[in-house]
Amino acid sequence: MKVLESAPYRYDRGIKILTLGRITKSYDRIIENIQENDRVLDIGCGTGMLSFRAILKGAHVTGFDINPEMLSIAEKRAKELDAKDKLVLIEMGVAEIDSFEKNEFDIVMSGLCFSELSIDETNFVLDKIKGIIKSGGLLLIADEVKPQSILKRIMHFLIRIPLVIFTYILTQTTSRAISGLEQKVESAGYIITATKRNFLGNFIELVARYEESDV
Ligand SMILES: C[S@@+](CC[C@H](N)C(=O)[O-])C[C@H]1O[C@@H](n2cnc3c(N)ncnc32)[C@H](O)[C@@H]1O
Repeated sequence: MKVLESAPYRYDRGIKILTLGRITKSYDRIIENIQENDRVLDIGCGTGMLSFRAILKGAHVTGFDINPEMLSIAEKRAKELDAKDKLVLIEMGVAEIDSFEKNEFDIVMSGLCFSELSIDETNFVLDKIKGIIKSGGLLLIADEVKPQSILKRIMHFLIRIPLVIFTYILTQTTSRAISGLEQKVESAGYIITATKRNFLGNFIELVARYEESDV
């Protein structure tokens, strides 16, 4: 998705077209897990597509992102929506995620950011979230994943090739569909309570709970 992030003012419209409108419905569904007054962390918040949905549900959101241009669009939107007191925006990378307080969040969520992280970063972030989310809190992820069946993997591969080439020519970067996300989440110590994949199996909505153990 970096081709869109390199022109952040086009990001929201571009991502909706690229996902054929699917992203809006997925984000609406994932946000249903948020309650009024929840303290929410949005990892790789970008222009705030997930953050503002959470704010509309009455949550207090902290969003962080490594790209200042994406953040400045989120900030502008917060002003327009008169939501500045409900949204804290921080420019930082996932490597600094343990700078938050223990038990600071009821919910940690992320849309389309894990697919831009390396495997080591993904495992690091999943581990560190446990230090900042309260026990019983929820992890919500909506992202691109590798399909599970061989046939769907082939279909996904064929659909993805032109997009990857186009993105690479323009930006020399790419995102990667996450492999084995459910296993990574479970190995990190979360209990998955719901998953929903699209028809092609290449986009997931995942809800997991974190319970701190006494041991
Ligand atoms: C595809 S965009 C998704 C943005 C937003 N979550 C959404 O759903 O519209 C991915 C975002 O992840 C951010 N990102 C990528 N790597 C990151 C990192 N290491 N630390 C923090 N943010 C990162 C990018 O800057 C970008 O804004």
